[in-house]
Amino acid sequence: LRTAAVIPAAGRGVRLGPGAPKALRALNGTPMLVHAVRAMAASRAVSLVVVVAPADGAPEVKRLLDEHALPARTDYLVVPGGDTRQESVRLGLDALPEGVDIVLVHDAARPLVPVDTVDAVVEAVRDGAVAVVPAMPLADTVKEVEPVGAGAPEPVVATPERSRLRAVQTPQGFDRDTLVNAHATIALTGDGATDDAGLVERLGAPVVVVPGHEEAFKVTRPLDLVLAEAVLARRRA
Ligand code: CTP
Ligand code: MG
Repeated sequence: LRTAAVIPAAGRGVRLGPGAPKALRALNGTPMLVHAVRAMAASRAVSLVVVVAPADGAPEVKRLLDEHALPARTDYLVVPGGDTRQESVRLGLDALPEGVDIVLVHDAARPLVPVDTVDAVVEAVRDGAVAVVPAMPLADTVKEVEPVGAGAPEPVVATPERSRLRAVQTPQGFDRDTLVNAHATIALTGDGATDDAGLVERLGAPVVVVPGHEEAFKVTRPLDLVLAEAVLARRRA
C-alpha cells in the first residue's frame, strides 16, 4: 500500500508573534517545515510528501525543499494553501496522485515527531484502522467552562475525568478514500472540526488512538520555540 504525507504549512503563526509564516521560521538554523518534511521522509513507508504552502509562497517553498536534500526514495509536491487548516488539507488531498492508498496528515508546526511515531500510525492503518490518531495522556486537569469573555471569571460547567482524556497530535493516518470523503462531505455542510480525525468521526467512521510522543508537540507560542531548539540540541549532543 502506497503512503503519502500531506503537510499543511500555510498558516501565519499569529500566536508565535510577528515574523515570517510559522513553517518558514528557523529552528537551529533550518526552517521548521524542512524539519517536518524530513520527519515524514524518515519513515520508509512514506514515498510522497505533499507540502501545502502559504498561498503566495509556493515557489519559495519549492526552492527551499530543492535546496535541502531529502532521501532519494521520497518525492515531493508543493501546492498553495487556503484560509483555514481544513481548506489547506483539502487542497493537499486534491493533489494526491492515483495509487496512494494511505494518507498521513502532519502539521508543519510539529517538526520533531520521531519516526517511530510515524511508523506506528502507518502500521495501525495497514492493520485495518481507517483513522488513527497519536495522542498523549494529559498532565493538567481540564475544565469545561461557560465562556463569558473579556477576562471575567468563567463558571465551570464540568470536569471530565482526566484519565479518559487524550491530547491529540499528528501525523494522523487514514485510509485515503475515507479521509477524502470526510473532507468533501464536511465542505458541503460548511461544518468544521479542529483536526482531520474529527471530520471522520462526524461521518460515523471509527477513529482509534495510538501512543503519541512528547517530542511531537506543536510549536504554537514563543516558549515552544525554546523547547524545540533544546530538543534539537539534545539530539545532536
Ligand atoms: N495551517 C494551514 N493553513 C491555514 C492555517 C493553518 O496549512 N490556513 C497549518 C499550519 O501551517 C500548521 C497547522 O496547520 O502547520 C496547524 O495550525 P496552527 O498550529 O494553528 O498554525 P497557524 O495557524 O499557522 O498558527 P496560528 O493559529 O497561531 O496563526
Ligand atoms: Mg491556526
